[in-house]
Amino acid sequence: MDPDISLLGELGNTSIVGLQWGDEGKGKIVDLLTGQFDYAIRWNGGSNAGHSVKVGDKKYAFHLIPSGILRQNCVCVLANGVVIDPIALLSEMDQLAGQGVEIGANLRISSQAHVVLPYHKQQDQLSEDRLAAGKIGTTARGIGPCYSDKASRTGAVRMADLLDDRRLAEKLQRIVDEKNALFSALYNAPPLNWKDIFQQVRDCGEQLRPHVCNTTALLHQALEKNKRLLFEGANAVLLDLDHGTFPFVTSSNCGTGLAAGSGVPATRLNTVLGVVKAYCSRVGGGPFPTEQDNEIGRKIRDRGREFGTTTGRPRRCGWLDLVALRYAAKVCGVTGLCVMLLDVLATFDSLRICTAYEIDGKRTQWFEPDAVDLARAVPVYEELPGWHDSLDNLESAEDLPPQARRYLDRIESFVQVPVRVVSVGPARHQTLIIGTGVVAMR
Ligand code: GDP
Ligand code: IMO
Ligand code: MG
Repeated sequence: MDPDISLLGELGNTSIVGLQWGDEGKGKIVDLLTGQFDYAIRWNGGSNAGHSVKVGDKKYAFHLIPSGILRQNCVCVLANGVVIDPIALLSEMDQLAGQGVEIGANLRISSQAHVVLPYHKQQDQLSEDRLAAGKIGTTARGIGPCYSDKASRTGAVRMADLLDDRRLAEKLQRIVDEKNALFSALYNAPPLNWKDIFQQVRDCGEQLRPHVCNTTALLHQALEKNKRLLFEGANAVLLDLDHGTFPFVTSSNCGTGLAAGSGVPATRLNTVLGVVKAYCSRVGGGPFPTEQDNEIGRKIRDRGREFGTTTGRPRRCGWLDLVALRYAAKVCGVTGLCVMLLDVLATFDSLRICTAYEIDGKRTQWFEPDAVDLARAVPVYEELPGWHDSLDNLESAEDLPPQARRYLDRIESFVQVPVRVVSVGPARHQTLIIGTGVVAMR
């Protein structure tokens, strides 16, 4: 049986945000909630995201399309802050159509969203390859180069340009010329032909034309009609361009940029649900204080099937870091926590949970996002008893083993935010709602 979401109380407009380094299970939470919402909105990132949703024995992988597309009455929006690879988007639409998911007028794409072009993906890869050390370990989906071109303004192409042959040709001719000079000088790469790129993406633009609109106007009209909005964050707070473990981050404000990325001000949000794994994982480079590059980490990876949805890379795994979690929850104003993959922690005799760092001999409970400083953080652990009972078939939070309940209580008391959803498996029914009442902040 699907969980009774009404136990969460009236959520109002809700933001779902990942509180670690991504892959916390945001897709599952969005899928559970979208039945109650009129709009599901992606507002940041691009096809670097990989959100998996399991419904019955079917598995869906979303990269650009909001996970709400599985619900018929939900309008799915790619707002202005998303960077859109039109080739990847069309291929995702095709794949979903092959799985029986209908995508028609219910998908809306902002004319102001920036376009990821083939040269962005190439630049992403070339730039990573050129780094001898300190590689970010990007998903090579062109995200960083596209957001850089957005900030440069003169190098940018937006969805509206894709729908206007003259504008597109003028821009591509000039930009590809610049890219060729850069690629040849820096990477000794062969030149690209702007006309080939023009043809390829112009045709994509034609196919996407019916979906493109002014999504800021659309969302404000929805607000005026008291429609319910669900914002699906991609990536996660510790990958936020400003507040994450810089420079090992992505190129959007994935924890804090909802208003800029959607045109909907933060004052219109009622609930912010933070999604967190019962442990930590990270893909790509960068510091990770509680990483267990040993038998423990391997056990977590095997039990949690921790391999990337987008790139298939094995994820680095380790103990839950409450210092990082409390920071992340503060930075994005979380009003309720969804603790995911708790089932994975079964069969450990004891569990560790990080409650402070020692940096240069000084103890601190404040997260240090600078990657160089964080690399010197030595975690201080509390030890909690583990449990051996499988959680896969639990139907009620009341049936959680006392050790699991104690683990959740410790999270709640440290972060000072209530745990309201506990996930014990990928399926919809493997979800426990804790307590009743409201999680909304206003
Ligand atoms: P997202 O990027 O935050 O949406 O997360 P991903 O989809 O990349 O990764 C989460 C993975 O964990 C997916 O394969 C989910 O199907 C799976 N998953 C979600 N919740 C649970 C859970 O409670 N237990 C287990 N074992 N798997 C889960
Ligand atoms: P979801 O939405 C996990 C990581 C990459 C890399 C860094 C920069 O599925 O949680 P990028 O390609 O964005 O320039 O890569 O950020 N990264 C993610 N890791 N889940 C994600 O998204 C991620 N999006 C980006 O692995 O370390
Ligand atoms: Mg993911």
